[in-house]
Amino acid sequence: MRVNRRVAATVASAAVLGLSLTACSSDDSDGSDGGSASAGAGDASEVEVFTWWAAGSEKAGLDALVNVFNDQHADTKFVNGAVAGGAGSAAKDLLQSRLQTNDPPDTFQAHAGAELQDYIDAGQIQDVSNLYDEFGLKEAFPKDLLDRLTVDGKIYSIPSNIHRANVVWANPTVLKDAGLDPSATYDSMDDWFTALDAVKKSGKTALSVATTWTQVNLLETVLISDLGADGYSGLWDGSTDWAGSDVTDALTDFQKLMSYTNTDRDGLDWPDATQQIIDGTAGFNVMGDWAEAAFEEADKKAPADYVYFPVPGTDGVFDFLADSFTLPVGAPHPGGAKNWLETVGSAEGQEAFNKAKGSIPARTDADTSDFSDYQQTAIESFGKDTIVSSLAHGAAAPVATLNAITDATSKFTTGASDLATYQSDLAAAVKG
Ligand code: GAL
Repeated sequence: MRVNRRVAATVASAAVLGLSLTACSSDDSDGSDGGSASAGAGDASEVEVFTWWAAGSEKAGLDALVNVFNDQHADTKFVNGAVAGGAGSAAKDLLQSRLQTNDPPDTFQAHAGAELQDYIDAGQIQDVSNLYDEFGLKEAFPKDLLDRLTVDGKIYSIPSNIHRANVVWANPTVLKDAGLDPSATYDSMDDWFTALDAVKKSGKTALSVATTWTQVNLLETVLISDLGADGYSGLWDGSTDWAGSDVTDALTDFQKLMSYTNTDRDGLDWPDATQQIIDGTAGFNVMGDWAEAAFEEADKKAPADYVYFPVPGTDGVFDFLADSFTLPVGAPHPGGAKNWLETVGSAEGQEAFNKAKGSIPARTDADTSDFSDYQQTAIESFGKDTIVSSLAHGAAAPVATLNAITDATSKFTTGASDLATYQSDLAAAVKG
């Protein structure tokens, strides 16, 4: 059974955020114990910052943050530890081997939610609650977000941004040439299939996609569309049955969507799929709103050069993820990491970084008046939509679960499994 998007939109945001980010169980106990008082004391001569923002618009975002950092902490040398590969597809494994061999960077990018919980459970990152007090951050972030970052009264990272993962990006000329109204939005997957058929008929790629993690990003938005916000969140807390017929329907829709995509997808990363929209070789693409930064970087203007709208059937739902910076146990330059974390949490850092990155500031007091039209829509949606946690970007499920889902998805989209096997592989991935 399909859940109408209007039903999904009536689910209270706070309740869903609570449901879907429970990996970080909050508790109000005092965070001053547990050795946090001195986190960040020590060598500040340099800071190795480990991210996957290695190229293109993502690097431009990082560069904007580094500019503020260099102003604020001229005595700490920034060392770029970026490892290429969207969504951390290569970085996360490398990071894990560095952490396991006691060779941590000074700070690394992690996703708020279940992914961060993994690092906490493994004892790989430090409580930085003292820095929240020192930098006055407890007042700067939304309470909901802080609660989700708090585990047993301790906070282990400082968020830099909030991204939305359920956005369709489209080329208006391609749509017009296919006989479609470029300002149209679609209420359901079925409505969208009609438009995709039109683009396909016009001879263009109807839906551009890239390597497996982008397919998982697509999958999660189909699950949100077809199951509704509540049903989707239930996939992560056990209240939605992965073996159910509504999941089968969603996977059938995902399979159909994949039939509209470019066949060279597995050799591409997200910027290549976005580029197909920029170049007008494809009609539609589903991607998180870091794509906004790629359009901006290519000097494209909406709505003349590109249009955007929530994935059909997900209007009123904000598929949430946040990048957050950590202080690893054994960081060689903890003072450098502290300085980096100060810049990440500062209003100036958040304004410069997010404007360039396509995301919205995690701070509620940042000045966003000169952010793009798209970003204004994201700010508005984040304020009123139902919030659900992104699977592909670490908010909904632990890394091991995401890896197993990614493997199952690759098997399915390369033709090595059928839909029934895919569904049972996904159920097994979540059971662990
Ligand atoms: C996400 C990350 C974003 C963006 C994206 C594509 O996981 O949170 O900041 O970098 O991957 O690489």
